[in-house]
Amino acid sequence: MIDLIIRDAALPDGRKNCDIAIVNGLIDQVAPMIDGTAAKEIDAAGCLAAPPFVDSHFHLDAALSYGQPRVNQSGTLLEGIALWGELKPRLTIDNIKARAEKLCWWAIAKGTLAIRSHVDVSDDRLLAVEALLDIQRQFKPYIDIQLVAFPQDGYFRYAGNRSNLKRALDMGVDVVGGIPHFERSMNDGTKSVMALCRLAADRGLRVDMHCDESDDPLSRHIETLAFETRHLGLGGRVTGSHLTSMHSMDNYYVSRLLPLIQEAGVHAVANPLINITLQGRHDTYPKRRGMTRVKEMLAAGINVSFGHDCVMDPWYSLGSHDMLEVAHMGLHVGQMTGTDEMRQAFDAVTANGAKTLGLDGYGLSPGCHADLVILQASDIHEALRLKPARLYVIRRGKIISRTPPALSQVLLDGKTLKVDFRHFPCQNGNEGPAAT
Ligand code: FE2
Repeated sequence: MIDLIIRDAALPDGRKNCDIAIVNGLIDQVAPMIDGTAAKEIDAAGCLAAPPFVDSHFHLDAALSYGQPRVNQSGTLLEGIALWGELKPRLTIDNIKARAEKLCWWAIAKGTLAIRSHVDVSDDRLLAVEALLDIQRQFKPYIDIQLVAFPQDGYFRYAGNRSNLKRALDMGVDVVGGIPHFERSMNDGTKSVMALCRLAADRGLRVDMHCDESDDPLSRHIETLAFETRHLGLGGRVTGSHLTSMHSMDNYYVSRLLPLIQEAGVHAVANPLINITLQGRHDTYPKRRGMTRVKEMLAAGINVSFGHDCVMDPWYSLGSHDMLEVAHMGLHVGQMTGTDEMRQAFDAVTANGAKTLGLDGYGLSPGCHADLVILQASDIHEALRLKPARLYVIRRGKIISRTPPALSQVLLDGKTLKVDFRHFPCQNGNEGPAAT
């Protein structure tokens, strides 16, 4: 017995008019005109059905804290860190959980069903760790949340972090974090990468470091991270997040660095919304863009995904946790407007993010988890262009979010005209898909 059939969907790989049959929470078949009936059917009416979005870099503990206790007026990274330091002593478990819970609802409604969230361990009380472990349990049926033990104030720079980070891992945090460029010296940064990779290897954990989030071309901790990954046999389980110094590095050095990252099997995460606003702050003109070299890393065979990083927090006052907004900004900043490049930008918030997180059963092939988002768009290009309504969000074969299709009307000369922003409208026009 088929539990759910989605009829007449477009797929991210370009296939059209496909049906998707779901049995016991898994994708059973993807083919045109699947025979049989199901307990429930959704007529996608030609709209795009994609695997859910993946946010491979986020901070749930800071999200939606905008204005507490004040707003970051300069908009700089350093004022953001100082502001977070002012807010931390005032945090309570309930406050963190309430904000994180609201953010998770937003994520679900936008079709994002996997989030890797860093959690600051620099507060000796580890309130955020406790709160986010609760959120991780609470949302387990709906969102895969991975937590990273993140020593925001530096692993060596704040002495308490060496024990705090281990305590967080003992409490159940999944991934080892770091922030080598924020240590007091390059040497301490290098030592922190080595110590944290060793800790991860000893515990059999993954690593995801804020790495070289700086405009300093000599911030080269990614080299140590890649070397240690290879040295300790951690390939495929280590991520360098941000990597913005690469934007400013010498080209010859980068030509040596990229093969090292690729051979080590290190994933890269760019955070376009945040780094386009935070980086280049010491520049007059020309002003650097502050995003890492996405196209060049992809061409070198490195897995690159995009993260949202922040939503309404000390570092970023905007956002609604929409991964299509992230991809949209990423392809603009990275000048990825070719057809294949736009596909890569979509992959950066879907399949590539799943690789970074090491998610099992992700995708639309038979046997994968029946996790899907149906968008009011006919293809990837249109999804990126319009950032359209997420008509249905499905988790393990069950609808967990619905949004009505957007409908605009212009009223001219006594007539009401439907306006469709889609270039290749779904077959049912503005009415969009229907469930029975
Ligand atoms: Fe971050």
